[in-house]
Amino acid sequence: MSEPRAALPEKGNDWDALRERMQSLGEGDADWRNARTAVYVFNAGEDVLRVAKEAYALYQSENGLGGLAFPSLARMESEVIDIGLGLLHGPEGSCGNLTSGGTESILMAVKTCRDQAAAAGKSVLGAKVVVPASAHLAFDKACHYLGLEIVRVPVAEDRRADPAAMAAAVDDNTLMLVGSAPCFPYGLIDPIESLSDLAQERELWLHVDACVGGYFAPFARMNGVPVPAFDFELPGVSSISADLHKYGYAAKGASTIFHRSEAQRAFQLFASDAWPGGRMQTPTAAGTRPGGAIASAWAVLHYLGIEGYREKARVVCETRARMMKAIDALPDLRTYGEPMLGLFLFGSETLDSFQIYARMLSRGWFSGIVTEPRAIHQMLSPAHADVADDYLEDLEAAVAEVRKGDGPGAPVTPRYS
Ligand SMILES: Cc1ncc(COP(=O)(O)O)c(C=O)c1O
Repeated sequence: MSEPRAALPEKGNDWDALRERMQSLGEGDADWRNARTAVYVFNAGEDVLRVAKEAYALYQSENGLGGLAFPSLARMESEVIDIGLGLLHGPEGSCGNLTSGGTESILMAVKTCRDQAAAAGKSVLGAKVVVPASAHLAFDKACHYLGLEIVRVPVAEDRRADPAAMAAAVDDNTLMLVGSAPCFPYGLIDPIESLSDLAQERELWLHVDACVGGYFAPFARMNGVPVPAFDFELPGVSSISADLHKYGYAAKGASTIFHRSEAQRAFQLFASDAWPGGRMQTPTAAGTRPGGAIASAWAVLHYLGIEGYREKARVVCETRARMMKAIDALPDLRTYGEPMLGLFLFGSETLDSFQIYARMLSRGWFSGIVTEPRAIHQMLSPAHADVADDYLEDLEAAVAEVRKGDGPGAPVTPRYS
C-alpha cells in the first residue's frame, strides 16, 4: 500500500523540532560527511564547507535574475567567469555565464551552437551532435530538448574518444563535436587536440565537457601532472563546460559555460518583451537564479586560491594513485586505464564486480558503477585521503566474501536516479 499523501500542517511547527526531524530523515543517507561516498558529493573538508555554506546563506534570498537590483551578484558572477577563463586559457573576447550545473551548461552549449547554425542558414532540425560513447548523457538530454540527433561513436581501445571514428561519423548535417576532460565513466581525458583539428578542418563546433576537470586539471597541471591541452588553448575549441559544484567545491547549483567569443554567446541569450511584464533578458535557461549558489562559488574560489586548489588536487591525485596501486595488488581485482585526475574505476574479470559493489554498499561505501566494463567507479574528494585505508581493508573482505559466495544475496542494480 502506498504511503498517505503528505499534507501541509494546519499550524506551523517549531523549527527546533523540524530540524531534528530533518536530521533523522537523513540518517539513512549515504555518509558523505565521513567520506564514504565517492559520487555526488565533493568533500574538501570542514573549513571549505563552512565557507560555501555561510556564503550561500549570506545571499540565499537574492536573485541572480536581477542584476539591476543586485549588482553584487552581477559582479560576483563576472569575477567567477574571469577566474574560470583565466584557468582555461580564455582568449581576448571570451566570455561565459554561471548556470545551475553541468547539465544546464551543456544544454546552453548545444542550444547556442544550434541557434548560431540556424542563423547562418543551416537546416538544424534533426541535425547531428557527434559524441564519444563515454560522453555524459546530458548531451542526449540536450539533443532531445532541442530537436537534434545525438550520434554516439564507440571509443578507441584505450577508452578515449576515437577521432578517426568520429570523423567518419560526421556528415553534412553535423553541427557539433564533443570531447570530455575527463569523461565521467572512465575518468580519462579525450584527445581534444585531434578533435580540435577535426573541428577546424570540418568547420564544426567543438564543445569540451570539462564539468569534472575544469576546476581540477589546471591545478593538477601546475602540480606537474602531464595534463594534455584541452581548453581554449586549442583553436578548434568553441565552448567549455566546467562545474563549480564538483571540483570547485562550491555549494550545489553552480557551473560555468564558457564561449570563445561574445558573437557566439549572443546565440545563448534570450530577450523578449512579448508580454505585459516588461522586458526580460536571461543569459541561461533559468529565470530566477539562486544568489546563494553564485555567492558560494565566488567565496570558495577566493577562499582556496591557486595554492588551496593545488593542494586539494595534490591530495586527490595522490590518493587516487595510492588506491589504484593497492587495488592492482589485490588478487581478482584490477583497475582500468590511466586516469590523471580524481576519478578511476576498478573491477574483476574473475568475480562479479557488482557483487563486490553490493558488499561494499552493505559496509556503507557508496559509489558509482560502470557497465562497460562492469566496474566500480570512484570519484574521489580530498576527504578520501583519510579513509582510503579503511576502504581498502573493507574491499579485501568484500572480495573474499564474493569468492566464497558469502554475504548479501542479490546485488543491487546501481543507478543514478
Ligand atoms: C563529465 C560530466 N559532464 C556533465 C555532468 C552533468 O553535471 P550535473 O550533474 O551537474 O548536471 C557530469 C556529472 O557528473 C559529468 O561528470
